Amino acid sequence: MKKRIFTFLAGIIFAILCFVALNMAMAPVSKSEYCGSKCHEMNTAYLSWELSPHGNNAQGVRVECIDCHLPPKDKYFTHLAAKAYAGAKDIYKHHFGPEYDTERMRKKVLERISNKICLHCHDNLLGKPGDSAARIAHTAVFAEPGAPENRCVECHEDAGHQRQNKLFSQ
Ligand code: HEC
Ligand code: HEC
Ligand code: HEC
Repeated sequence: MKKRIFTFLAGIIFAILCFVALNMAMAPVSKSEYCGSKCHEMNTAYLSWELSPHGNNAQGVRVECIDCHLPPKDKYFTHLAAKAYAGAKDIYKHHFGPEYDTERMRKKVLERISNKICLHCHDNLLGKPGDSAARIAHTAVFAEPGAPENRCVECHEDAGHQRQNKLFSQ
């Protein structure tokens, strides 16, 4: 009996250690600096993010790449699985894939980013009083949240990345 309890406790300690190690290993590859600098495919996305309201705003808050491009961190295992999958796919494509096609990727990403990702942080869109353009637009959005034209990125396509023509014409 004693031996069993010991094995059981050792198992739990081992699991905790693995968990800590995994988090430590994941910390550096979760940084926007890592996402944006590791391979040339991401360079433009990184620069245009730095000029966007999420990479740079008056409050000094930085919304990281993974906040929009992966499921929320509080869904720990979904987040981790998506990260491992995306990371592996990016590495594979980087070495064996065809030439990176920015326009194609933009379209793919646009299709994929759900309102849920944005609403995770912007949960108070109707909080401000008055008849602002934002309030009118968002009231319509919440009246029919599933409609394709009511996806956040339909109207806020450049939320995460300052448009490239703006970037290059400066
Ligand atoms: C606020 C949400 C948000 C954040 C933060 C964000 N993105 Fe994006 N990203 C988007 C959206 C929306 C698109 C599709 C539309 C577009 O290209 O602007 C996109 C497109 C992309 C694309 C495909 C197009 C391209 O330029 O190659 C890449 C790669 C990308 N993002 C990487 C990143 C990286 C790296 C970071 C962090 C440095 C980041 N994103 C931060 C929302 C975001
Ligand atoms: C991790 C939290 C987070 C996520 C996820 C997020 N945002 Fe933001 N967003 C912010 C912060 C912080 C700011 C800057 C401070 C502010 O203006 O409120 C901001 C600013 C904005 C602004 C105002 C820009 C301006 O010019 O003032 C818009 C529009 C916006 N976000 C849309 C989006 C959309 C669309 C998505 C989903 C693709 C998204 N956000 C995802 C936190 C987030
Ligand atoms: C039908 C178009 C439309 C859709 C869809 C839409 N918005 Fe907006 N949004 C606007 C307009 C118009 C403004 C005001 C002008 C501006 O700041 O661009 C605005 C402003 C904002 C702002 C800054 C002002 C504020 O109220 O804080 C944020 C943040 C924002 N939207 C987030 C979102 C999110 C998150 C979604 C998805 C749930 C979304 N929007 C969907 C049109 C839209």
